[in-house]
This record gives sequence, C-alpha cells and structure tokens, in this order.
Amino acid sequence: MKNITAERILRLKAESAFFVLQKAKTLEKQGFNVIHFEIGEPDLDTPEHIKEAAVKALKEGYTHYTPSPGIPELREAIADNIREEFGVDYTPEEVMVTPSGKTAIFYALVSIVEEGDEVIVSTPSFPAYESVVRFLNAKPVFIELKEEEDFRLKPENVESKITSKTKAIVINSPHNPCGSILTKNDVEGLADLALKHDLMLITDDVYHKLIYDGFKHESVASIPDVKDRTILINSLSKTYAMTGWRVGYIAANKELINHMVVLQNNVVSCIPSFIQKASITALKGPQDFIKRMAEEYKRRRDAIVDGLNKIEGFSCRKPLGAFYAFVNVKRIGLEDTELVEYLLKEAKVATLHGSAFGYGGEGYLRFSYATSMEKIKEGLERIKEAVEKLTERDA
Ligand SMILES: Cc1ncc(COP(=O)(O)O)c(C=O)c1O
Repeated sequence: MKNITAERILRLKAESAFFVLQKAKTLEKQGFNVIHFEIGEPDLDTPEHIKEAAVKALKEGYTHYTPSPGIPELREAIADNIREEFGVDYTPEEVMVTPSGKTAIFYALVSIVEEGDEVIVSTPSFPAYESVVRFLNAKPVFIELKEEEDFRLKPENVESKITSKTKAIVINSPHNPCGSILTKNDVEGLADLALKHDLMLITDDVYHKLIYDGFKHESVASIPDVKDRTILINSLSKTYAMTGWRVGYIAANKELINHMVVLQNNVVSCIPSFIQKASITALKGPQDFIKRMAEEYKRRRDAIVDGLNKIEGFSCRKPLGAFYAFVNVKRIGLEDTELVEYLLKEAKVATLHGSAFGYGGEGYLRFSYATSMEKIKEGLERIKEAVEKLTERDA
C-alpha cells in the first residue's frame, strides 16, 4: 500500500498540554488527587446570561446555517467591540467570525504565507504559530524572549532577523506562556518595522482583557498607519470564560477577509447559529463579569507568584497579563521535562514544561493559575515538599 499520509500533515504538532493532561487523568483514574496547573483555560463558568441566550436561540430555531463570515449582527457587535477596545474603526465587512481563536491563527497564516516565506515568531510562544508555519512549508524565525527583558518582543531584537523572505511578525500580548505584556513603544516599534520592511503583522490578542496592576493593553491593531497590514485575532474563550463554545474572530482588510470567508466556507461553512446569537449577548450584554474575573485572577497571581518564589530553586517574575506564571527552574538541575514528570509522580501536581513552547522556554515551567485559590495553595505546598525531597536526595 502507498504511503497514505501527505507529508505536510506530519509537520503539524499537537500541544503538549494535552499529553500532560492525559497522564494526569490516568493518575486520577488510579484514585490519585491531581492538582492541575497545566491547562490554559478559565475554571470560572460562562456567565449565566450568555448561556441563557444560547438556549433561547436554540428554542427560537437558530439551528441552521448562517452566512459564512457570520451573522451580520454579530459582525457588527465585533466591529463595535474593536472600536471600544482598540480605538480603531473596522466595518462589519472587515470582520469574520471564526470557530475559535486557534482557527483564526490558522486562517491568517494560510491566507498570507507562501512556501519558503519566513515568519517571525517569539520563543517561547503559543505552539500553533510554529506548527502552522511549518505545515505551510515556511520557516519560523525565532526571537528569544529574555527574562531580563520582561519576556517582551522588543523591536530591536526583531529587526536583525528580518530578511527579504520575511512575510510577517506574529505578536502576542498578553503573552502565553510568559504572562508578559508589550509597551506602547514596543508595539510602535514593531509597526515601524512592518512599514519599513513591508511586512504583515498578525496580532493575537486573546488575553487582552486580562491585564493587571493598572497597565493598559497595547496592540499594533490600535495603530491606524498599519491597519491594512494587520490581522487582528481575538476570541471569546478567555474574556467570557467560553473556551468550550469555540468562537473567535479575525479583523483584517476587506480583501483578505473575503479570501478567508472562502476558506471558512470550504472548512466549516459557518459557526453554529445559536452560538453566534449567544456571542452577540456576550459582547453587547453586561461586562462587569470581566472585571470581577480579572480581579480574581490578580489575587491568584499574587498568591502563586509569592508561593513559587518561596520554593528553593524556583524564581518567578510577576506576570502582568493572561493567567500564567512562567517560572525559572534552572537552579533545580533537572531538565524542565524531567521536573514536570517528577512533580506529577511525586506531588501529583500537573505543570507544563517551558520547552513545550519552543527552545526559548527550556528551563522554565508554566503554571496556569486559572484554578481555585485552595488548589493553588495545596499545589504549592505539595511542590515545596517534593522539591525539598529532591534537594535532600542530591545532598
Ligand atoms: C496565545 C493564544 N492564542 C490563541 C489561543 C486560542 O484560543 P481559542 O482557540 O480557545 O480561542 C490560545 C489558547 O490557549 C492562546 O493561549
């Protein structure tokens, strides 16, 4: 029999979080109580009024296909939301509803990247960027995010990596896995590079509402000069605790959106109609939930960062956004992958190795603090004890 798989499909990679989760689930099946810090999703439930809107829509018969780019009312609600949040004008025709932020990343890269192109991506970074760039037979060009530079994608580090083949820069702020945010200077510098070198900017802003300590979200999407070369990716997953609903959006120039609409038409036709109706309620309804959620994450961030820094061999900068703590564990003397295995086995605590996000993450662990305060405290105690055992063993 001929080789049945196309070569391109072998270039795609799944996220490591799922593999760690599987191992943790196996332990749970054996009766162990596992604390989960590996999963990047809110533990808080979707607000009731959004759920009710979905049920109402189902009962009203929103059970059929919709236009591929989305229900006009939802595209309008998204355009309004972008105006409020990013201060830029997008028409509903420059917006497309997508089945998740992840799909939006895929659509964006598939629509602009040619074989052989180079795409600038930070390392560490959300794994789908590298995976999809490789899938397209293009080359990810990595910029290492440095702890001493607050894990920021600094324009001066990017410029030296730009070549005649560079097509786009992928930007993500607040950042997964580092929890870092970009400054106004950073985004202006990246926008200048795009203009100077004729590049596209893909900005993944799915954590834009999760920023702490009074900092403001800065995005290239707010810079009018680069609007026609910016693809804004966002999602309702994190902002409205709607990860399981799978709804996101892309905003870009109309021509690109029209191509992506054809792509979406070929893949899913449209996003489920009752979910689109509920998404209108999410965007147009009460927003106070978001503030309360962000305050709760901030409380947890303070507790986890404080606790992690009390563990011998761990050091953690205070993340300013998203819900991840990215902890330097180089002093422990194990590979990050080995430490993840050890903590799961010894402490029954699931974490994620930094190298799951690229070589720039080696020597770090990512902790998602989208879990209860109680679990955070219990998990930290267990880790402290397990790490002490490790040091005693090596003494
Ligand atoms: C940086 C980043 N972008 C995009 C996504 C995708 O989010 P979703 O597909 O749930 O909208 C995630 C999810 O964890 C993420 O961390």
